[in-house]
Amino acid sequence: MENSLTVVDNRTGKQYNFPIMYGTYPNYGAAIRSADLRQIKASEDDFGLLGYDPAFLNTASCKSKVTFIDGERGILRYRGYSIEDLATKGNYLEVAYLLLHGELPTHDQLADWTKNIMHHVLIHENMKKFMDGFLYDAHPMGILVGTVAALSTLYPEARNISDPMVRRMQFYRLIAKMPTIAAFAYRHSIGMPYSYPDCDLGYTGNFFNMMFKRTELKYQPDPVLEKALDILFILHADHEQNCSASAMRNVGSSLPDPYVSIAAAAAALYGPLHGGANEQVLRMLREIGSKDKIPDYIKRVKSGELKLMGFGHRVYKNYDPRAKILKEMADQVFEVTGKNELLNIALELERIALEDDYFIKRRLYPNVDFYSGIIYQAMNFPVDMFPVLFAIPRTVGWLAQWEEMLNDPEQKIARPRQVYTGYDCRSYVPMEERNSKV
Ligand code: CMC
Repeated sequence: MENSLTVVDNRTGKQYNFPIMYGTYPNYGAAIRSADLRQIKASEDDFGLLGYDPAFLNTASCKSKVTFIDGERGILRYRGYSIEDLATKGNYLEVAYLLLHGELPTHDQLADWTKNIMHHVLIHENMKKFMDGFLYDAHPMGILVGTVAALSTLYPEARNISDPMVRRMQFYRLIAKMPTIAAFAYRHSIGMPYSYPDCDLGYTGNFFNMMFKRTELKYQPDPVLEKALDILFILHADHEQNCSASAMRNVGSSLPDPYVSIAAAAAALYGPLHGGANEQVLRMLREIGSKDKIPDYIKRVKSGELKLMGFGHRVYKNYDPRAKILKEMADQVFEVTGKNELLNIALELERIALEDDYFIKRRLYPNVDFYSGIIYQAMNFPVDMFPVLFAIPRTVGWLAQWEEMLNDPEQKIARPRQVYTGYDCRSYVPMEERNSKV
């Protein structure tokens, strides 16, 4: 039978046929349904075969039309449009519209979308007081995760997730308020009064205003840096079924409001193996300190003592296309900000690593986090804000994944199985009979 898989169970000699399903590309993403494996039983009372896949190395958890990655060839597309085209020709809110709606907006649609988002950038004064409760040295990512979850209490109607209009309102609010919460978290940490949004400025221009405005009457962002941050936001907007998107879908599958699901996704992003890597790259480059220390550092990485942060990816086994765009963009930013010495260390580190057998064999290339941190630092963002700068634009990706999950009739509450390897049934041992040496 064409487009099917025939499996023989050597325990029983029985043969099974499973249909193979395809996505857009026949050579990329062909799959069988894991649930079909349950037909394979060694005996009548056998539960049936499971697929065992720790860390989901080879499991497709959904069908998706949002983002396509070909990790072998270093391709990333949102809704079919290449990341290179979107980064050079689009702007962040336009790309956000594309991710959520599936199509690029018309002029009027974009104007309406932008107006609605900018209308919601303020946060309730109670949220400001809530943020005041954090210690001055609280990590801004912790503040972001806590505050976005707290928004759930302000908008109880958001629990009505089956109503598309209610969902739409939360899209506006979440995309609008994440930069405000992020900037307020930063101002809180340095003891500066909060800088309120200025909607005359665009989405990224206003973010600079909320971060860096001091005593001037009107803050004017540098246009080159504003454009660069907009591109960074586009590059970070979605990345299909990564750890945080999967957290969004998993938590969202029990049908809570989107604020707590976004908090869960942001928590997943916080870790150093995911969105927290940009922060770790900068700390690593500072620790290396100068080019002559690189060979020693690489030795420690190869011995397994350390990981080279900003290198490697579960999906990309080629240069991450986002890192390529950022490497090229760095020079434009440095023309405005002055050169960041860490860039020279990063370039040399990349050169040495890419010539080394250890990295070649494992197909480890720079990922998006390798260059983003150096650019953020040049723009004056403190290091612990880097994962927050990832979370702001990724919010739209999480929402697009969530919306797709809710509208997918095949999705249910996420609930993996396990292969139990613990004790068989045992009798309770009374306290006086327990061996204290064990
Ligand atoms: N430095 C040194 N060795 C590495 C690295 C690294 N950064 N990444 C992977 N390896 C080695 C790993 O030790 C393993 O070697 P061996 O076969 O000898 O055991 C081999 O390469 C395969 O790695 P893996 O751990 O099986 O790969 P994974 O798909 O489970 O992990 C990763 C992917 C991104 C978590 C990992 O490459 C890593 O920890 N990188 C550093 C953190 C980082 O930069 N994260 C940002 C990812 S991109 C932004 C995002 O989307 O979050």
